[in-house]
Amino acid sequence: MSDVSEDKLVVVTGAAGMLGSALMALAPKSVRAVGVDIAEGDLSTQEGITSALGPYIPEVVIHCAGYTDVEGATNQPELANRHNAVATENVARFCAEVGARLVYISTDYVFNGMKGEPYTEEDRPNPINAYGRSKLAGEQAAQEITPDCLIVRTQWLFGLLGRNFVEAIIRRARQGGKLQVITDEVASPTYSQDLGGALWEIVARPVSGIVHITNSGYCSRAELARVALDAAGLADVPITEITSADWDSPTQRPAFSVLDNRRWQQLGFTPLQPWQEAVGEYVQSCLAVR
Ligand SMILES: NC(=O)c1ccc[n+]([C@@H]2O[C@H](COP(=O)([O-])OP(=O)(O)OC[C@H]3O[C@@H](n4cnc5c(N)ncnc54)[C@H](OP(=O)(O)O)[C@@H]3O)[C@@H](O)[C@H]2O)c1
Repeated sequence: MSDVSEDKLVVVTGAAGMLGSALMALAPKSVRAVGVDIAEGDLSTQEGITSALGPYIPEVVIHCAGYTDVEGATNQPELANRHNAVATENVARFCAEVGARLVYISTDYVFNGMKGEPYTEEDRPNPINAYGRSKLAGEQAAQEITPDCLIVRTQWLFGLLGRNFVEAIIRRARQGGKLQVITDEVASPTYSQDLGGALWEIVARPVSGIVHITNSGYCSRAELARVALDAAGLADVPITEITSADWDSPTQRPAFSVLDNRRWQQLGFTPLQPWQEAVGEYVQSCLAVR
């Protein structure tokens, strides 16, 4: 039985961003999807909640809004905390008040990346950077205020309307820049279109708790760059492989943060397409030179 009844209202926050915009574009006909972003109100403030969400009594809020600049979060942890933790707390309170179901989008960066095998939903989070800590605080607020919420963790998103690694590598290669790519960060690249479709599927069912959703398979940043360049017809562009120790960044990132999609499959959902196919699809439809 569907948990989202005909013509019921679903509010998508962060609707101008990479995932939110994909969700809006993919909204099924059976729901009325309304997108809000920072222009409608800053969700980290009560005034913002009132102006952005106040006009609605939704059945579901898919909360994609967030501070997603991982390096920026290291420099300004309080800003990341405001937009990821405080805003989520506010959105959760709004959901509790109006009786809406909260779906919060979270990240593999809640893990330290040292497990050595894919992380399941039962694994204990232990973030190693400010972004991960702020997203984990968001998860905790969501679970505390709206115990029946759904938390969807994903990783390495690429897609339209957002800064992403695949687009950046191809742009740099086309500009003739030198490509140095890290080999010792491994995860599952995930296409915003594929995740968007998956989110609408899971929102239609009464699932709560934590679910990891990514494209199938995993790779290092260097492997991702290679596949992206090949898909863009730039197979002859050389890549210099380096390790994270050679990369001058104050932000520590998890080394192996692959998310196990076991629960997604146990719930009867079809695994998302392999990341290589998703990259090919994205490059052809969004980044091809015509
Ligand atoms: N990108 C990834 O690789 C990745 C991986 C795992 C999980 N996630 C999570 O997935 C979600 C969507 O990511 P995304 O890449 O689609 O993000 P995005 O492209 O950066 O979009 C996020 C949107 O939220 C808005 N926003 C930020 N703070 C807000 C606030 N306080 N009130 C209202 N709007 C606010 C942003 O506006 P401004 O641009 O004006 O700030 C932006 O339009 C995020 O929660 C992120 O943490 C992302």
